[in-house]
Amino acid sequence: MVFERIEHLREELRRHEHLYYVLDAPILSDAEYDALMRSLQKLEAEHPEFVTPDSPTQRVGGQPRDGFTKLRHSSPMLSLDNALNEGELRDFDRRVRELLAGEDFNYVAELKLDGLSMAAHYNAGTLQLALTRGDGSTGEDVTPNARTIRSLPLKTTEDSPFEVRGEVIISNPAFQRLNDEREQEGLPRYANPRNSAAGSLRMLDPKVTAARQLDYYAYFYLVNGAPGAASHSEALDTLSRLGFKVNPARRRCADVEELLTFIREYEAQRESLPYEIDGVVAKVDSVEQQTRLGWTAKFPRWAIAFKYAARQAETVVEKIDVQVGRTGALTPVAHLRPVNVSGVTVSRSTLHNEDEIARLGLAEGDTVVVERSGDVIPKVIRVVAQGAERRLFTMPSACPVCQGIVARPEGEVIWRCVNVNCPARLKNSVLHFASRAVMDITGMGDVLVDQVVDKGLVRSIADIYELTQDQLAALDRMGQKSAERVMAGIEKSKGMPLPRVINGLGIPFVGERTAQILADAFGSLDAIRAADEPALQQVEEVGPKVSQSIRRFFEDGHNREMADRLAAAGLTLTHQKVDRSGGILAGLTFVLTGTLPTLGRDEAKAMIEGAGGKVSGSVSKKTSYVVAGEDAGSKLDKAKELNVPVIDEAALRAKLPGTF
Ligand code: IVH
Repeated sequence: MVFERIEHLREELRRHEHLYYVLDAPILSDAEYDALMRSLQKLEAEHPEFVTPDSPTQRVGGQPRDGFTKLRHSSPMLSLDNALNEGELRDFDRRVRELLAGEDFNYVAELKLDGLSMAAHYNAGTLQLALTRGDGSTGEDVTPNARTIRSLPLKTTEDSPFEVRGEVIISNPAFQRLNDEREQEGLPRYANPRNSAAGSLRMLDPKVTAARQLDYYAYFYLVNGAPGAASHSEALDTLSRLGFKVNPARRRCADVEELLTFIREYEAQRESLPYEIDGVVAKVDSVEQQTRLGWTAKFPRWAIAFKYAARQAETVVEKIDVQVGRTGALTPVAHLRPVNVSGVTVSRSTLHNEDEIARLGLAEGDTVVVERSGDVIPKVIRVVAQGAERRLFTMPSACPVCQGIVARPEGEVIWRCVNVNCPARLKNSVLHFASRAVMDITGMGDVLVDQVVDKGLVRSIADIYELTQDQLAALDRMGQKSAERVMAGIEKSKGMPLPRVINGLGIPFVGERTAQILADAFGSLDAIRAADEPALQQVEEVGPKVSQSIRRFFEDGHNREMADRLAAAGLTLTHQKVDRSGGILAGLTFVLTGTLPTLGRDEAKAMIEGAGGKVSGSVSKKTSYVVAGEDAGSKLDKAKELNVPVIDEAALRAKLPGTF
């Protein structure tokens, strides 16, 4: 019964994944899909014996690995010779016609996606192995990562062994999202979608790959390392039938003129495609003819890559100024003498951060090469000539928007304005403060925050407490009723405990957990404000990075004034640490591993901590007990090695009378 239900859910999820990721034609909403997935996860958690590697739930998760195993390809994964212009394409075509001595033949034209090639091996209808191209003869085993690619089927209807080769890519929107996130985290941006796809596929932790939203387009179907169909076009149709994503932008062409038409058509559309292409691949369709044409030492004689021109142009950087983003990040921006880059006029380019400017050796007045690749905003690639009058750029010492303090935390590349009420960051700060996990102010979402900030009603988080019902009722999409509801939410938030207030202030590196620890250690916001760095570092888990960030925060006059006003508004700024030192588990350290029969991780942790015990992530000699459930892994081995007692959920519960 349960097994049938699990199988049914899997079939449904696979069907919807294919509709969504391969055919781009979903029939379920995301929420409905998520609900199906959760039902399956729940059943599998209850019946781990039924979990199989091809279950849709296995696309995420998996164990991080130490490195990649290298394995030989079934046949070499070679690359293609290039044609850089029409003449070179015609030369290729002439050679093919000569070698085929006037025989009839067709080409297949496909887009050349700018990613990295990967081979995927299937047996008994399931994905067994995925290898990067590597050096062409051996590749890296990236199977756990490849499993996270939604458009790569984990299961197909073909039972006999076969291999697919194709391109792993990241779409332009996913690429931009990823780079924005990296910037926020202070990491360098990826230069182009190909680099980011390659980097993402080769992550040691498949969870990271999963979050990157890679895509896979299949273009070869092989059996025993040789073509598995009589022609390339048949192979592509087979792949599509087996559930693979095959780019619909492909065409059988009778001669080089038709190839050129295809090439020109897609060059014109290049801007509007959701992914980067760097050209068109032309292949002789018949496999029998391919075999006769054969290979040179490096390339097949039956295929060629026509490369589009790089989307680059030269221009002058007239000025560099600094923008402040929603997180307070200061981003230098180059103002360019307007230039046309493959049909788009470009006049600005982000320079990302000061390290990037130093790397480029760039100054105002210099002539540079700009390139468009994936990002909406073009990138300065290199300096080609220094300006006669060069003006070197330095980061401003104060925020250009609010004149507040700017700081560049150690190890980061980004300078940020530390004033949480800087107009540039204000909406973000207010949304965070009002969010459910923080002050939980009902009704204070995007729409309302946009309005109160834009109308100047809220210039600081503290202004929330001076809003009036009439002001709110006068806003778009509000009425007396909803205004009343928001006012009640604001009033109620005054009773929120200090850790939430601290979290709400938006001090960099101080989230929920650190806020709790600080409140427990200092007992009031005033005491935290008064503490110097050594005092802050006395606190468990507070290191130099966090203590420095707290000090910087309270050194800023705007932030201090805000804290004073929050106090005046009547927020709860003192805190009684709940004393658990007399708890029944006080002094004991637990490590949780595997899946417990009824308790979730967080529940078990809360129970232990509630009774004064500690929960740690790794087993050492100091561990009092390891609580092990189903599928416990290396932590259980470690416990045995160190002679740490191992107990199950029932034994844990037995230590906690009254918690049943
Ligand atoms: S066929 C022996 N088809 O471009 C033939 N390649 O130099 C090998 N690529 O390494 C490749 N789209 O990473 C082929 N439709 C396509 C392609 C494609 C992108 C990449 C691939 C390959 C390189 C060719």
